[in-house]
Amino acid sequence: MSIIEKALNKLKKEDAELNAKFDCNPKENLEETPRPIVDNMSNHIKVVADLNDDKDLIFDIDWKRLSDLGFAAPGSSNTEAIEEYRNIKRPLVNNAFGKGSEGIARANLILVTSSLPGEGKTFTAINLALSIANERDKKVLLIDADVARPSVSKVLGINDSPGLIEYLDGPDISFSDIIVRTSIPGLAVIPAGKLHKYSTELLSSNKMALFVEELSNRYPDRIVIFDSPPLLAATQGEVLARLVGQVILVIEAEQTLQNVVMESVEKLATCDVVLALFNKTKRNMDINYYGYGYGYGQYAH
Ligand SMILES: Nc1ncnc2c1ncn2[C@@H]1O[C@H](COP(=O)(O)OP(=O)(O)O)[C@@H](O)[C@H]1O
Ligand SMILES: [Mg+2]
Repeated sequence: MSIIEKALNKLKKEDAELNAKFDCNPKENLEETPRPIVDNMSNHIKVVADLNDDKDLIFDIDWKRLSDLGFAAPGSSNTEAIEEYRNIKRPLVNNAFGKGSEGIARANLILVTSSLPGEGKTFTAINLALSIANERDKKVLLIDADVARPSVSKVLGINDSPGLIEYLDGPDISFSDIIVRTSIPGLAVIPAGKLHKYSTELLSSNKMALFVEELSNRYPDRIVIFDSPPLLAATQGEVLARLVGQVILVIEAEQTLQNVVMESVEKLATCDVVLALFNKTKRNMDINYYGYGYGYGQYAH
């Protein structure tokens, strides 16, 4: 077998593995998927193993915990938040696959960023991923690219799993090694991986650019959401923003100063679509109210 044939076979194998991880029709899989083994030792999220393949770990989303943390978990009392994320995702999905997608390169790749830490990137990225995957709009791949302050895994409870950093750092970790299936059919996660001395350099490396390109070529039918580093803390957020089709700029309402927001907007000037999302808005005069108000401002070039 020639080197090229070998490489092609490897790619085909990886594709097949990955599709097997993603392509789980919720109804069909209800019968096919063996009941998970619940690990009672873990506090919040249970790591369950598919009985057919013990390499293929599934992370069981703990809805109660997410709901308690204020996430728009189905069946929770956060019905207002669920409705708001429905509204937030609509233009994104439409830009990615609807009529709005014409002319936007890589429109299915969405970066969630903000000017500063703590404005709500992770909160937004997870809620959006849950909303899109739960309501079966599209399959979603959620990638924790805030490698300096990774928190997607922490919130979901995915621990000690290799992630983006390991993939970028070494030749031995393949794409399918870092993808974690979750108990929501259609939602897969790539954790940030271990903290690394050069994690921010890795994030702006050529390999990262190739990785994003590969995602867009291989999975044009999936929404890929990146939880990104803040734009003003380092340059990586800006670099990532140039690789994706849509950017959500999360702005902490009544907190982030206008000149700070404008600085971020300038950094995103070359992006095709930027949506501004006002997070943590107060709805009324009750200062104790910490609500889920969102406003969408949009500009597109
Ligand atoms: N709309 C919101 N409602 C309630 N809590 C929120 C909201 N947005 C963010 N938070 C909380 O604020 C904190 C910071 O948000 P996070 O998403 O971690 O910020 P970032 O990822 O931008 O650093 C977290 O504890 C998060 O759960
Ligand atoms: Mg975060």
